[in-house]
Order: sequence, then C-alpha cells, then structure tokens
Amino acid sequence: MAQNWTPNSWRNKPIQQVPAYPDQAALAATEAQLAKFPPLVFAGEARRLKAHLAKVAEGDAFLLQGGDCAESFAEHGADNIRDFFRSFLQMAVVLTYGAQLPVVKVGRIAGQFAKPRSSNFEKQGDIELPSYRGDIINGIDFTPESRIPAPERQLDAYRQSAATLNLLRAFAMGGYANLENVHKWMLGFVKDSPQAERYKKLADRISETMDFMRAIGITADNQPSLRETDFFTSHEALLLGYEEAFTRVDSTSGDWYATSGHMLWIGDRTRQLDHAHVEYFRGIKNPIGLKCGPSLQPDNLIELIDALNPANEAGRLTLICRFGHDKVAEHLPKLIRAVEREGRKVVWSCDPMHGNTITLNNYKTRPFERILSEVESFFQIHRAEGTHPGGIHIEMTGKDVTECTGGARAVTGADLQDRYHTHCDPRLNADQALELAFLLAERMKTGRDEKRMVVNG
Ligand code: TRP
Ligand code: MN
Repeated sequence: MAQNWTPNSWRNKPIQQVPAYPDQAALAATEAQLAKFPPLVFAGEARRLKAHLAKVAEGDAFLLQGGDCAESFAEHGADNIRDFFRSFLQMAVVLTYGAQLPVVKVGRIAGQFAKPRSSNFEKQGDIELPSYRGDIINGIDFTPESRIPAPERQLDAYRQSAATLNLLRAFAMGGYANLENVHKWMLGFVKDSPQAERYKKLADRISETMDFMRAIGITADNQPSLRETDFFTSHEALLLGYEEAFTRVDSTSGDWYATSGHMLWIGDRTRQLDHAHVEYFRGIKNPIGLKCGPSLQPDNLIELIDALNPANEAGRLTLICRFGHDKVAEHLPKLIRAVEREGRKVVWSCDPMHGNTITLNNYKTRPFERILSEVESFFQIHRAEGTHPGGIHIEMTGKDVTECTGGARAVTGADLQDRYHTHCDPRLNADQALELAFLLAERMKTGRDEKRMVVNG
C-alpha cells in the first residue's frame, strides 16, 4: 500500500479548482451520507479493466474512451443513454473489425459531472458570478442562486450515475450489444448520413460471418462473447470530497479502490506533483489516466509516473495527450522518448478534442479537420518512435447536435446555433464520431499490414 496514504490525506495538500461551498457543515454531512451509500463499481471490475489496459500498453488491444464533456441533470434520460451507447458500439465494431484487435470500451459517463474552469468567475455584461463547475457542484443558469455550490447536488449526481450505470450494464449484458444487432445500431438520424453506406457494408460482412459461424454451431446463445460486451465507466476525479466518500477497501485484496467509476483521470489543470489530486490518486488501485497538455515537461512527467505508478504496472496508467493539432508534433515525441528511455509501461491515448477548441460566432467549437489532423499526427509519431498508439479519448454524443464544425455532413459556423446543447465543451455528433472511427480503423489497418510485412519479410 502507498506509504502514509489515507483516503483523506489529500486534505493536507494544496489544491486547485476547489469550489467555495458556503456551508462547510452541510458539505461534511453530505459526504458522510455518501460514504454510507453502496459503491457503484466493484474492485474486481477495475482490476479486469486494468488487465485489458495492460494489453493496450503492449499493442494487443485498442482503447476507446468517450462520452459527454459534462453530464447534466437536465439531459438525463433513457434515450440519451441509449443513443450514446449505440453510437459507441458502432465505433467499437468499426474499430474491432478494422484493426482486428479487441477494443477496450470505456465511457466518459455515469460520473462525469465536475468541471475544472480556467476562471473562477464568469462575466456577462456588468454582472460577474462564480463560474459553472458542473452539475455536481452548481447550476448552469447565470443567476447568483444557481451558481452557489450546493452539497445536495452530489446526492443527485450519485443517483444519476447509479441509474445510468444500471442501464448501461443492462445494455452491455442483456442483449442490446449482441453482434446480431449490428444493423440495428444504425437506426436513427445516421441512417441517411454519408457514413451509412460504409457502415451497412461492414455490418453485412459481420452478419455473413455470423451466419457462417451459426452453420458450424457457434451462436450468440452458446457463445457469450458474441452477445455481451465489457463496458467500463470513467470520469475526471476532480471533486475529491465526493471521491473520498466512495473510496473503499476491497475485501478480497485489502487494497483501496475508488468505487465511483472503474477508471478515473487527473485533469491537466490539477496534476501538480505535490498537490491534492496526485496525492489522492497515488493511493487507489484503479487504472488511472493523466491528462498531458503542452505545459507538461518530460522530467515532470517522469516524476508523476514515479508517484502514480511506482511498481511500473502495465495498465495502471494511461497518458491522455491533448496538445492541439498544431502542437502535437512539438510535444509528443519528447514525452514518448522520456518514457521509453526510463522503460515505463504506459498506455498512450490521444484526446484530439481539448487542444483544438476555437470560438466561432460566439460558440465554442472544434473543427473536425483539426481533430482528424491531431489523430493522424498521433499515429504517425508513434509509428516513427516505434511505440503503440494505444487509444483515443473523445467527447461525443449519440445525438444529431451541431457543436463541432465540419465532417462529411459539413456543419458550418452558421449551423452551430441549430442544435448546440452541450453543458460544457463541443462534442462530436453520432455522424462525426462514426466518421472518426472509420478513419482510425484505416490507420490501424495500415499499421497492422506494415507489421505483417516486417514479420513475413
Ligand atoms: N464481446 C466482444 C467485444 O466486446 C464482441 C462484441 C459483442 C462486440 N458485442 C459487441 C464488439 C459490440 C463491438 C461492439 O469485443
Ligand atoms: Mn471537455
């Protein structure tokens, strides 16, 4: 176990991005209440995800991580969860087929509520109010009452996470994810999109393969892997009081686990070595992520790896790189070389969203071509360095929103106002997400063919 660590030892460290709760006694009472609630996930599941991620680190699997920038109370409902899951499954199946690798499926969901902000205050006209920090902390409405951090919101976030996770588990295990449904995931607005034809072709080939397998006696009834999928949850563990309440000892191993989600990550704004977030993360045994932005220096990264993964355990640490399409070539190679030089086992994942945000017609948006460009560079750099481009981390929704510009259906700056629904950052819509999956599948197929050529001489 990590030395001198307890679930609350982070409280003795400096901390960034902490909400100013006016009533500390009420906050403490809520945290005490949460600490009695059942965990959302089981430690054994987190270990299983870690084992899957160890495969990703070796280049034998691919990580797909995605979901809302911020979940919201207002958008909570069965349709949104189903549409997200459907879109996610489509991406997963395209990637599995294209890369011929298992895809490790991790949602940014069932707990992704707390948001770090660049400023503590937001100004509109002459009025200045505390910034919105996610529904688990305060309200998005620009009124003084709504912006006061309210502890009860943590209870609502827990309830929503539990309900969301319950439905996702049902979908993953109860038949929705059955590969025999591969055509049905297409229903909805993507049906008449430019990706539809491509997807239908791929789905036809999978169905044909399934027909062949059925003929030889392998069916979804006798082969659970055809009808079930492992789906995991993740979020940025920003609100440490909430996380502490769900930090529990696993009775089977005696280790501490965060049980608010399977995988947690540290944001780019809260990764200071001697601060509270790194302190909290070093003591939990879950697989964890670390967001790496342009300000992260190679030496600093190695110190963080020393603190967060001292045993150099494969699958423990995923480096989620978010540099920007025009900065990735400058920053990523230095980090890869430092990690390789020190022999550290990590998963390299590409977040092509957060470094590519611009403002257009007063909307925060992300041009799809910049997202693709960062992904392309990420793959090329890993190929050149001889390391594995292990995964992708995206903000996406199953809905037909207009938040990111571009894509085959060419969302323009003027379209942004039509269906701009995000509570925080702009997300890929279902169409753009699928287009990205096809591009990734092509890149991975190229990598695979190159590898084969080397093996076969
Ligand atoms: N169980 C396998 C997997 O999760 C195959 C599978 C079943 C699958 N349903 C799926 C793959 C849906 C992608 C999408 O990989
Ligand atoms: Mn975001």
